Amino acid sequence: MHQPWNFESLDALPARIWTELSAAAGDVAHPWRTPVLSTATPSGPDARVIVLRSVDPAARTWTCFSDARAPKMKQASEQPECVWVFYDPRTQLQLRARGRVTVHRDDEVSAAAWAGVPAVNAVNYRRRVAPGIRIGTPSEGWETCGDGESQFGVLRFEAREMELLALNPTGHVRARFLWQSGEGVACWRGTWVAP
Ligand SMILES: Cc1cc2nc3c(=O)[nH]c(=O)nc-3n(C[C@H](O)[C@H](O)[C@H](O)COP(=O)(O)O)c2cc1C
Repeated sequence: MHQPWNFESLDALPARIWTELSAAAGDVAHPWRTPVLSTATPSGPDARVIVLRSVDPAARTWTCFSDARAPKMKQASEQPECVWVFYDPRTQLQLRARGRVTVHRDDEVSAAAWAGVPAVNAVNYRRRVAPGIRIGTPSEGWETCGDGESQFGVLRFEAREMELLALNPTGHVRARFLWQSGEGVACWRGTWVAP
């Protein structure tokens, strides 16, 4: 049962978005659990699906896990500005988010996250061959080594801009929110935009 969306109040939408993101991180069946992360590279944009692992609405952050040797981690450390796209076909809701990521490996953030990785998933970070390296046969990519922790990485994203698009038979609705802070202000400032 999905919690309904109400598009009457612009100001209520940011909280609703964060509620949905938090729900998605804890629900393997939620389509927002597998967003697309787009990063910049010297030769142009790149993008891939990644699992949303944790969400902190108060900090405006979320995290994802990756093999620390994966190209996305190098891209994110060189160019932290990135874009995420979430889509839920059940509600026809798209969320786009812009902000900056930080890459964590062998630090407090990655150690805390690693402590919560189930053994069955830990094997994904024990691969002998780094992601993206050419191999002769698929099984070479399944070979393991080490305990995984030294190859485990966390991407921590801090949102600065969010844009929601709802496709409705009665009329599409699009709203953009920018995080405003300073001089006693800390809130999402929203505006309706043409779909
Ligand atoms: C449903 C799905 C979930 C995925 N989840 C992750 C993930 O949580 N972490 C990850 O690093 N890659 C994940 N991937 C693989 C990435 O999409 C990508 O192929 C891989 O990480 C290499 O990306 P890169 O070369 O841009 O670093 C997932 C792929 C799919 C299809």
